[in-house]
Amino acid sequence: MEPCRLIDLPEHKDPRGSLAVVESNRDVKFDINRVYYLYDLPSSTVRGAHGHRSLEQLVIAVHGRFEITVDDGYRSESFRLDSPAKGLYIGPMIWRDLINFSPGAVGLVIASMHYDESDYFREYEDFLDAARRSV
Ligand code: TYD
Repeated sequence: MEPCRLIDLPEHKDPRGSLAVVESNRDVKFDINRVYYLYDLPSSTVRGAHGHRSLEQLVIAVHGRFEITVDDGYRSESFRLDSPAKGLYIGPMIWRDLINFSPGAVGLVIASMHYDESDYFREYEDFLDAARRSV
């Protein structure tokens, strides 16, 4: 499993402002099949709280800041997303919690697959069983 990691996205800055890019199979090593975003988030909210069997994602704080805790069934690690030019890659078989959203934060998620509920682990115990069996 490729570890979760922060990716610096190509940025184009000039006096008119800044632009960041994510290209399929270049900046992310998967085909991009879906984009969704989280907004209007109460600061105390917890999003995610699930794992995926196969899905790969890149999560970007396109506005504001938040934290993502990732857990592979053995250890967990926290990443702070605070720049629209930085993305967190999350591979398959990772439980993730998105927390501590700043006011007005917007989280953009770029995903390798269309929405498929059967790819989800919604219960942590189910995820843990599968993660520990799959190694
Ligand atoms: P949910 O998985 O709870 O959001 P997150 O884990 O990212 O915080 O999804 C919220 C609702 O949106 C749920 O009813 C499923 C639906 N949904 C879609 O229909 N398509 C999608 O691509 C996603 C991510 C969610």
